[in-house]
Amino acid sequence: MTELADIEKQDLLYQGKAKEMYTTNDPEILWVHYMDQVTALNGKRKVQMKDKGKTNCAISSQLFTDLRQQGIENHFIKQLGPTDQLVQRVQIIPLETVVRNYASGSFVKRYQVDYLQKFEQPVIEFFYKSDALDDPFLNDDDALALGIATNDQIAEIRKLARQVNQHLIQIFAKMNVQLVDFKLEFGLTKAGDVILADELSPDNCRLVDMKTKESLDKDIFRKGLGEMVPVYEEILQRLQHAEEI
Ligand SMILES: Nc1ncnc2c1ncn2[C@@H]1O[C@H](COP(=O)(O)OP(=O)(O)OP(=O)(O)O)[C@@H](O)[C@H]1O
Ligand SMILES: [Mg+2]
Repeated sequence: MTELADIEKQDLLYQGKAKEMYTTNDPEILWVHYMDQVTALNGKRKVQMKDKGKTNCAISSQLFTDLRQQGIENHFIKQLGPTDQLVQRVQIIPLETVVRNYASGSFVKRYQVDYLQKFEQPVIEFFYKSDALDDPFLNDDDALALGIATNDQIAEIRKLARQVNQHLIQIFAKMNVQLVDFKLEFGLTKAGDVILADELSPDNCRLVDMKTKESLDKDIFRKGLGEMVPVYEEILQRLQHAEEI
């Protein structure tokens, strides 16, 4: 393995909606750049917001570090400057794993239940990560039939998703933030292990202030509720403050 200090950014591997992924001189390591771009409706709405990339990069780095301390393996290696990270390259399993503690978003729409209705136990849902198909909802058997993941991998993803949820609930509670739901991506390492990858930020979580019930996440953009980046900065500040307690 190349020494981390000697890692160099090489070619653009993937231009995403929120991040750019670059190869490096180590085939096992990717260089992630968090962009200032915000999208909704699967990329149909696209806006540039100054400092959004830097804020999400910092939040994501901190949460991956916290999860590692709690024993949850993930792809994060280190942060490089304000907007970039080194991560372990994995083969992303094309499943968007959504964990819900309270009803929101598509759950409310699909089942016509009250926003923020509390669930007896966390709900785990899978969506097929396919822009061409608009990320359709699917169940474990569908994922198996489509060859997206094996039974063992799905079981591991469910277990890890529940563990991540328990840790994130606690971290956000210290910040007076209610963790409504979030989306995770997992990948396979060279050794075949399932680990947490992608990002953990208010782009991928629904967060509400415990007192005011105000949205502190990308719903601000989706619903046109005002300036989004200052709220993300507030989340980062509360996170840094919670780390000190
Ligand atoms: N450790 C990793 N190794 C390989 N690929 C990764 C890793 N972490 C994240 N990725 C992938 O890199 C891309 C990150 O870019 P971004 O989040 O902007 O994508 P996106 O626009 O949301 O598109 P997608 O629909 O592919 O997720 C995603 O496709 C994600 O699955
Ligand atoms: Mg993404």
